[in-house]
Amino acid sequence: MELMELLTGRRTYRRFLQKEIEPCIIDEILHAARLASSAANKQPLSYVVIRNAQKVEEVFRCTKWAGYLPPEDGQPKEDEKPVLFIAVIENTDMNPNCDTDAGLAIGNMTLAAWNRGVGSCIIGACDKTKLSEMFGLTKDQKLHTVVAFGYPSHKSSISDAENPDEIKYFLDENRDYVVPKRKTEDVVTYL
Ligand SMILES: Cc1cc2nc3c(=O)[nH]c(=O)nc-3n(C[C@H](O)[C@H](O)[C@H](O)COP(=O)(O)O)c2cc1C
Repeated sequence: MELMELLTGRRTYRRFLQKEIEPCIIDEILHAARLASSAANKQPLSYVVIRNAQKVEEVFRCTKWAGYLPPEDGQPKEDEKPVLFIAVIENTDMNPNCDTDAGLAIGNMTLAAWNRGVGSCIIGACDKTKLSEMFGLTKDQKLHTVVAFGYPSHKSSISDAENPDEIKYFLDENRDYVVPKRKTEDVVTYL
């Protein structure tokens, strides 16, 4: 895919087909994370891959989806759930301030996924205490986010936010996501 097309299509997806993601695609997603820039090249991130169906369900139960929508619209239903999670772990003994590293790695992962038609949802709203216990994290490890993956069963597109304050995503008449983005001229200053 051409880069701008890839960036435009790489939206957040919250409903998925119940179809497994091929192991070679999972490998590619993880390799993409590894390619990301890292402050002082410390590479303080590690990853937990959750692909066993029962474990995926356990992680899913710790996650919250689409805070702007009522749960009946935003929370994936039984046959819409993601089939894979990748947890992003900060190893704080290597670098305690690695939020930017994590963002870059997540950006690479979600793009690499979308390049293969796999949609994703970055999940910050999750029970980090419970998940850290489930993943066996040590005192020097901090759960940054979990990223959900799957082949999407809906579309998502951006719209221009006519009012810069109206940024809440919504579902259109086809239950596809529409994500208002502030216009370039509203967020850029030239000196
Ligand atoms: C750091 C971060 C945390 C997020 N946490 C959640 C979350 O807990 N649940 C969710 O449904 N979406 C979550 N999202 C997805 C955002 O809601 C989504 O990126 C935003 O609505 C814009 O949509 P887009 O990704 O299609 O541009 C998160 C995104 C980021 C970057």
